[in-house]
Amino acid sequence: MKKKILVSRKYPEAGISLLREQGFDLTLWEKDRPMTPIELADLAKDHQALVCTLTDRIDRDFLEKCPHLDIISQFAVGYDNIDIAVATRLGIPVGYTPGAMTEATADIAFGLMIAVARKMFFMHKTIMAGQWGYFNPTGHLGMELTAKTLGIFGLGRIGFSLAKRCKAAYGMKILYHNRTRNTAAEQALGAVRVEFDKLLVQSDILSVHCALTPETKQIFNETAFRKMKPSAIFINTARGPIHHEGDLIQALGQGHIWGAGLDVTDPEPMKPDNPLLSMENACVLPHVGSATMEARNRMSVLAAMNIIQFYNTGKVPHIVNPEVLKP
Ligand code: DGY
Repeated sequence: MKKKILVSRKYPEAGISLLREQGFDLTLWEKDRPMTPIELADLAKDHQALVCTLTDRIDRDFLEKCPHLDIISQFAVGYDNIDIAVATRLGIPVGYTPGAMTEATADIAFGLMIAVARKMFFMHKTIMAGQWGYFNPTGHLGMELTAKTLGIFGLGRIGFSLAKRCKAAYGMKILYHNRTRNTAAEQALGAVRVEFDKLLVQSDILSVHCALTPETKQIFNETAFRKMKPSAIFINTARGPIHHEGDLIQALGQGHIWGAGLDVTDPEPMKPDNPLLSMENACVLPHVGSATMEARNRMSVLAAMNIIQFYNTGKVPHIVNPEVLKP
């Protein structure tokens, strides 16, 4: 019998057509919003596999209602929306899409860094408000990035890619904080692994590239921001809850740090009256790090291949919990 796959959003056709070609019976959620938890569980009950993404809540409640699922394939590199411990206990493999959005997300972090340093979003708003005025020799002053120190919190693929850009464009010194050493980055870029406190104290630009876990949740809080340089720029393109938003607003308002560039917020979507949106030194984007045609196509292909390979060979090429698969 044909396997039934529930596809939780409109994903790029590249991956969907691969699933179709394999003869799977696809149910596509066509609405421009994620399913509610009730809609998701009701539909998933009648399917053997699920393609989902970060806006789908794959928590204990959902998993215990759907223990029959053969596989869950996440369209994202982050999977903090999925209770991996419960999926593993129930023997459900969880696939994901690492590497597909590395360059796209590094570009967004790099772009935010420059945009914050030169107050670009705020300057754009002054023109829209009819406040261009005259050339002002002492107004709107930003900062240069040449020879600054970049601190990476979580130096994996995306952090490495950002560090390469910063080294090549600005000759930056690279510091990083990781549980394990990244010898490739040390050799290629002279990156230096440091304790968290040293990263806070010495970075001119501090960019977050770790996963959201209980250990990293709100690790960038008032205590952390107070240790940073008053001239520092904070960038988060990973997950919003890694920083404490109220503490960030306060740190910017009180001058504990100089600026912030965010592609992720807590909660998402951010409300239009959020103070960060009117601050001179803050630039906010609506979680678009992976939003290039190339990255999204690659993600959809990887998400599809995780399911196809699972049913054809019993292996999942990119899996979060390999222990559930038979050796
Ligand atoms: C991810 O992949 O985790 C991004 O946040 C969305 O592409």
